[in-house]
Amino acid sequence: MIDIAELKEEFKRDIGLVDSIKRLNEVKHKWTSKTGILKNLSKKITSIPLEKRAEFGKLLNSLRDFVRGEIQEKEKVLKETQEREKIDFSLPGRKIVQGAIHPVTVVIYEIIEIFNSLGYSVAEGPEIEDDFHNFEALNIPPYHPARDAQDTFFVKGDRLLRTHTSPVQIRTMLARKPPIRIICPGKVYRRDNDLRHSPMFHQVEGLVVDKGIAFTHLKGTLLYFLRELFGKGINLRFRPSYFPFTEPSAEVDISCPFCEGSNVCKVCGGANWIEILGAGMVDPRVLRNCAINPDNYSGFAFGLGVDRIAMIKYSIPNIRILFDNDIDVLSQIN
Ligand code: PHE
Repeated sequence: MIDIAELKEEFKRDIGLVDSIKRLNEVKHKWTSKTGILKNLSKKITSIPLEKRAEFGKLLNSLRDFVRGEIQEKEKVLKETQEREKIDFSLPGRKIVQGAIHPVTVVIYEIIEIFNSLGYSVAEGPEIEDDFHNFEALNIPPYHPARDAQDTFFVKGDRLLRTHTSPVQIRTMLARKPPIRIICPGKVYRRDNDLRHSPMFHQVEGLVVDKGIAFTHLKGTLLYFLRELFGKGINLRFRPSYFPFTEPSAEVDISCPFCEGSNVCKVCGGANWIEILGAGMVDPRVLRNCAINPDNYSGFAFGLGVDRIAMIKYSIPNIRILFDNDIDVLSQIN
């Protein structure tokens, strides 16, 4: 007796292994050709006893339908995949957009490199600060008008978004003792929004504390640093200023690297000088707040706006351009 069920299982195994048209043709040949299994079975029908012939015929028909159906289905699937995998070599290639470093990051890296070469290390701190590190320890008590100048985003309780990177000097001085030579790059936040101000911007703060540090060290360091950054030709101008955490304090300008004395320069507005950073000798009170004895140690600090420097270096008229993240615009800057 021929076992049709057993044959069906065999076919299922065969078709299950088919993964190409070539293999499908082999299976077709084995099962449906003139010399194939199905044809052979039909021929054998006369050898089946009469009373079983009808049943055998029925089973054979259903096997034939099954085999044909499965083969058709497989053929369809294989052709579809073949179609999909066809490669059209005449199509133009897909261009991969190459990323680049953001102009602000480029400037931060440049600044870090210059100060690394002078033996400074990078220190970082949290962007959500508390009143103590952002104000109090920096000699800015609650009633101090300097707080108005740094329009603050408050978070909750005494938590706030740091308005400058100066709290990192406090954290550093509390954590370790002199000699200290650090720069602190990072994001800062103020309620400000116009062509030149964005509510989030970037600062780099510098701090040196050691025995015998004097204003001349600050001057020499800034002259070296700014000439590395803007070119050997620039000069510095120190204007007396005020910061609660430095004494004396200065506002530092560079001679405009673009206009060579012209009075129509777009970058400096014809002033020939560009205000670039704030600096000063660390106020003895600030040292004391950080348990450093000002009789033994002194220091200088400076802080600058990175975005402003990027705007000057790359002639960017609107700070928004830096943060809208329009790839076309940013890649032009690069
Ligand atoms: N923290 C000051 C600011 O954001 C900048 C500064 C830093 C000035 C260090 C002097 C010394 O305005």
